Amino acid sequence: MTVTEGAPRGVIPTQLLKGQKALVTGANSGIGKATAIGLGRAGADVVVNYVAGREEAEEVVREISGFGVRAAAYEADVSREDQVVAMTERMVQEFGTIDILVANAGLQRDAPFTEMTAAQWQKVLDVNLTGQFLCAREATKEFLRRGVVPEVSRAAGKIICMSSVHQVIPWAGHVNYASSKGGVQMMMQTLAQELAPHRIRVNAVAPGAIRTPINRSAWDTPEAEKDLLRLIPYGRVGDPEDIAHAVVGLASDLMDYVVGATLYVDGGMTLFPGFATGG
Ligand code: BGC
Repeated sequence: MTVTEGAPRGVIPTQLLKGQKALVTGANSGIGKATAIGLGRAGADVVVNYVAGREEAEEVVREISGFGVRAAAYEADVSREDQVVAMTERMVQEFGTIDILVANAGLQRDAPFTEMTAAQWQKVLDVNLTGQFLCAREATKEFLRRGVVPEVSRAAGKIICMSSVHQVIPWAGHVNYASSKGGVQMMMQTLAQELAPHRIRVNAVAPGAIRTPINRSAWDTPEAEKDLLRLIPYGRVGDPEDIAHAVVGLASDLMDYVVGATLYVDGGMTLFPGFATGG
């Protein structure tokens, strides 16, 4: 069977996050971009964080503004403490508060193990793990300061960590990336446990193979895509909107009782597809 259709479009309820203020890191491309747009479509005001690529970030802001909500592009390197502090302070000043943090910014620096430099290891840990820690910490300070505002949301704040199927699937040639996402899993669960009594919900979305620039070589030729599909029981490569929909749902009060969960959005990649015929 050939299945070619992608993520369903236009299914987001437009008032779901009305009045909420969302910060999405790494929101000028890929999953972050689709997520920022999805949150805007759902009625949230959105800060579009980026570290390089101002034009793309401004483009995302224009698209979100088209939904009649507020949006702005903020430059900050999530791995730098001073920049994260400045970004969250600026958001509180200009938008009033933060209700939703999507800690999304992430990157890959792939290399076989013995060729991986300490700089490649460190860069990926700095952005993918320390970056999420810093953004979560600063957002949490604002959630605690403000507390629950029942007209806005049942929770004082929502943090959604962008993880990966590689928080549980080992990945040869990507030890830095897989280690960072394994770290994200335990960070998310620990924060969820620590912050739940304050009515702060911390959860993660773990994407599988999504059509974005980070993994272009895995899907941009027919041969590569065919190889990739062997790992995906559902028979299609994911679209960024598939992830955006999961984030919007988790951020909303529809999922108010979901705390410390990882939602795998992977077309079944974590189901050990090799065992469909082997074992
Ligand atoms: C990685 C992609 C990869 C996917 C599935 C993601 O977390 O960033 O490069 O295609 O996992 O392996």
